[in-house]
Amino acid sequence: MIVLAIESSCDDTGAALIEEGRRPLSNIVSSQDEVHRKYGGVVPELASRRHLENIVPVIKGALQEAHKTLDEVDAVGVTRGPGLVGSLLVGIMAGKAVSYAKDIPMVGVNHLMGHLLAIFLENEIPFPFIGMVASGGHTALYLAEGFVSFRFLGGTRDDAAGEAFDKVAKYLGLGYPGGTIIERLARRGDSQAISFPRAYIAKDSLDFSFSGIKTAVVNYVRSHPPTDDGLANIAASFQEAVVDVLVDKIIWAAQRYKVDRAVVSGGVACNGRLRERLNQRGEELGIRAYFPSPHLCRDNAAMIGVAGYHLLKEGRRDGLDIGALSRWLFGRE
Ligand code: KG4
Ligand code: ZN
Repeated sequence: MIVLAIESSCDDTGAALIEEGRRPLSNIVSSQDEVHRKYGGVVPELASRRHLENIVPVIKGALQEAHKTLDEVDAVGVTRGPGLVGSLLVGIMAGKAVSYAKDIPMVGVNHLMGHLLAIFLENEIPFPFIGMVASGGHTALYLAEGFVSFRFLGGTRDDAAGEAFDKVAKYLGLGYPGGTIIERLARRGDSQAISFPRAYIAKDSLDFSFSGIKTAVVNYVRSHPPTDDGLANIAASFQEAVVDVLVDKIIWAAQRYKVDRAVVSGGVACNGRLRERLNQRGEELGIRAYFPSPHLCRDNAAMIGVAGYHLLKEGRRDGLDIGALSRWLFGRE
């Protein structure tokens, strides 16, 4: 089965052709970073307009790269939520158009389910595992028990981890998106220079909170106007504090549910320090950590194709009447 997958939940327009739920025949992503950079964050109205311009060329590009025509596509998987409604709608309308014109089934996919399954594009791993999505919009922990079976274990109560990177970078005048910039700067800094707070919420809690550390960085900078080295130390110490909490809670979840595998995805999973620290801790404790390649951690349509395939295999179909779901709680039924 070949699934045409479409992703447009935030600021990346993506289309991919996925064979048998794991082989990407193509995976095209058109990033809008340059559109949003000068605002230091995603501007929803600009994002949906850009999706509208990009969606047809991106789908055509995915077909071309895969050397396929629409007649060879068996089904459509499209991100239905959560995300920006105006952005989501562009992808959903494109999915409906293909489904209607070619008379093939369509299924709406939860964006988080896509992130959680991205690893299967590169790796066959057995269930169960602890799955974490850490991105600009989400920080959530799951127990993954099967391809369509996820249990929500905890999530952020305020900012997402990536959002904290973006806001701190913006405050420090470093640019957008913040994650890669802070990581690069942190390499020259001392991660132990400043002791920023780690918000564990409660002993054993699997929830997260990242707004406090953002405020702590602001307060620190106000009282210690940074030099060049100082900036690198702030970046390194901030990154270390976020990584500490993410790693600890992934490990706690694995121990609590007695699983020895953890998969981390979402843009923040590109972070080298997070990868290094989780691999290290995991090795000590007998928990194997998996990360998709960076281009599959970030928003892309291929991961939506994996999720779409498994939903379709379960007999899930959506009609042409579905709308976007800006909030869509996943795995909490
Ligand atoms: O998954 P993604 O592309 O889009 C969302 O669904 O949000 O994630 C983007 C987020 C941004 O907040 C960005 O700052 C963060 O991921 N990010 C990183 C790194 N690369 C991207 N955060 C920390 N370290 C990185 N290397
Ligand atoms: Zn995402």
